[in-house]
Amino acid sequence: MGKLEQQFPEVYEICRQFALDEGAMRKIVRAMTHEICMGLAKETHSSASIKCFETCVQDFPTGNERGKYLALDLGGSNFRVLLVNLISARQIDVVSKTYGISKAIMEGPGIKLFDFLAESIAQFCKEHKIENDNLPLGFTFSFPCKHIGIDQGILVTWTKGFKSEGVVNKNVVEMLREAISRRGDFKVDIVAILNDTTGTLMSCAFQNQNCKIGMILGTGTNACYVEKTSNVEMFPSYQTSTKPHMIINCEWGAFGENGELDFVRTSYDKAVDRESLYPTKQVFEKCISGKYMGELVRHIMVDLMDKGVLFKEATAQILREREKFDTRFLNGIESDKPGEIRNACKVMDKLGVRGTSEEDLLCLRHICQAISTRSAQLAACGLVSLIKKTKVKDIAVGIDGSVYCSHPHYHRLLMENMKLLLKGSAKFELNLSKDGSGRGAALTAAVYTRHPPTPPQDLPSKKQSSSSLLNAPAPASLPTVRRFIQKVFWTFRHF
Ligand code: GLC
Repeated sequence: MGKLEQQFPEVYEICRQFALDEGAMRKIVRAMTHEICMGLAKETHSSASIKCFETCVQDFPTGNERGKYLALDLGGSNFRVLLVNLISARQIDVVSKTYGISKAIMEGPGIKLFDFLAESIAQFCKEHKIENDNLPLGFTFSFPCKHIGIDQGILVTWTKGFKSEGVVNKNVVEMLREAISRRGDFKVDIVAILNDTTGTLMSCAFQNQNCKIGMILGTGTNACYVEKTSNVEMFPSYQTSTKPHMIINCEWGAFGENGELDFVRTSYDKAVDRESLYPTKQVFEKCISGKYMGELVRHIMVDLMDKGVLFKEATAQILREREKFDTRFLNGIESDKPGEIRNACKVMDKLGVRGTSEEDLLCLRHICQAISTRSAQLAACGLVSLIKKTKVKDIAVGIDGSVYCSHPHYHRLLMENMKLLLKGSAKFELNLSKDGSGRGAALTAAVYTRHPPTPPQDLPSKKQSSSSLLNAPAPASLPTVRRFIQKVFWTFRHF
């Protein structure tokens, strides 16, 4: 037993409640696999906690998609509009702008939300002088949706921080189209609506044909995977479709709503749930994702303060405020070398907490580690259940999201736990699929566009280019003959 453990047994006892052994993880994999199968089947779909929504995405990038597309990304407190130029398989130019969404809009009438989206798109199009170009558009809408077509999505329920009224059970693409035509000052062609996990998979698949799973670990968490169409019973033409595969949006954040995680949930998980916008919902997401990890740490700290264990001399009352402890703080705190507390000190300074002891901060670090380790272990369980479900023996997973991208040990923890669970039964790689929501939406629009791709050209303002994959020089315009062949190919593929 270490010195700190002897000195603070209460801290170690709480952290032990978050530890998952191999047996517990295997039990979770089995339960997730079960819920996935229930979600796919018509008879059990309604009672499954992992709904496995069909996405209608049955075509995949070939790597030859080219041209300019608009992408929209709605899923958090920001709305992004992107102009994506697919120049080559190795060069994608993106110009984008982020529009902050106020709480009033996130929780107010739906019509206001869609008017706000339309206004932001109008501004963006005017800035880039594309208001009359009727560009094909992919809409990343990162909430549970029932698809009735590639460009038709009915919102099933809001998740994360949204509660906008009058949108649940409505076709969100229709709502956006109506808002756009109310303005009438720009033209776009909405080709596809997709989940951010689908975007991440598509974006990864553009460069790696082995990619069959997309995962997001950010504010929320979710995954999608490639399933045989004949298994997607909720898809009306699952027995007759000529396309062999379809991407399934699992919506695994809701796993646990049938009590499957009760044996691992702690009193702190329950406290976070009680204070959330949707108590009893999104149970898995609340154990794992960025919106809640900081809250879990905060609840533990407050409990230890109340018990007189931590921050005895400190001015730590601020920690009693909801959402005061940002999940991003875990990244810094866990970046410190073992036994060091430099970043923990900085975080506390930033929060205005004074008078903490070295031991307080070492305990804080231990708590953060317990939360992020459990998060990665649960995400590993999810990925392993999907890998097993696909039965693919050599598979790539595209991953995006702030937790995965910014946490110093998350990738390693995922790898270690997946290896432990898979025991060599499948080869896998985890690929960072940066900005899957933006690039993936454009790629999906490219795959499903009803227009021949526009010849590659420079984007309006090179200076604003926010991301460019490998800055190779742009190829010359496609010769007319090649464009014609491409057009015939696209037409053949989509009609
Ligand atoms: C939430 C949403 C889901 C999304 C995930 C990640 O779980 O319900 O659709 O994919 O967050 O953004």
